Amino acid sequence: MDGRGLVSDEQVEFYRVNGFVVLGALTDEAELADLRVVYDRLFADRLSLARGESFDLSGESEDRPALPQILGPSRFAPELKETKLWANARLVASRLLGINVEDFGDHAILKPAGYGAPTPWHQDEAYWDPALHYDSLSIWIPLQEAMVESGCMHFLPGTHLSEVLPHRPIGDDPKVHGLELAVDLPEGLSPVACPLPAGACTVHHNRTLHYAGANRGTVDRRALILGAGRAATARGDGRRFEWQERQKAAGAPAS
Ligand code: NI
Repeated sequence: MDGRGLVSDEQVEFYRVNGFVVLGALTDEAELADLRVVYDRLFADRLSLARGESFDLSGESEDRPALPQILGPSRFAPELKETKLWANARLVASRLLGINVEDFGDHAILKPAGYGAPTPWHQDEAYWDPALHYDSLSIWIPLQEAMVESGCMHFLPGTHLSEVLPHRPIGDDPKVHGLELAVDLPEGLSPVACPLPAGACTVHHNRTLHYAGANRGTVDRRALILGAGRAATARGDGRRFEWQERQKAAGAPAS
């Protein structure tokens, strides 16, 4: 399969206009079953990872983390990079970015059944170095069905064309790594919920506002997120993200 088989011309155009797109399956059920085993092993071993490799995005108790994340899961399970899912994600990213994508920045966010916390509205670029200019995307892949009730993605169409809006640490606690939008959502836009079957994906741009609800379901919501982009370039305009400065001063885990 090539990139056109995975992303039609209409889907490329939809992404360009809206800053996100919903795509079909990147892999099959047999590989998804293997991926869930690897994923669950990584999270079972999570507490052996170093600070900075894994932490609770929501800042709640590490005894019962509500939004545990692993940065770079393919460092700990290199077999992930050999999967059909990774190969097809490379094709998707290459097609939407118009460059040859060979590697991803990857992370895994688990949303435990029954108490997994919402991921508040944010733009991914708010986490990154404010001195740089980005043109990148994230591919979000649930390893089981992701419905509204279990924490699927929601996007605000067209917000990829806006600047980075003010953010703050979740709950305004600077010791928390996770960020949330610190202002009201832009007016006149309606969020689009994107429920997905297992192994399908959404793709969003680094400035697209997005949100995922709590997991009120009975199955853990496992998601893999693969990021890729053009090489970041210096902005040279002195942009600062004061929320990052507050977090750094408070000793929050850095990404
Ligand atoms: Ni995000």
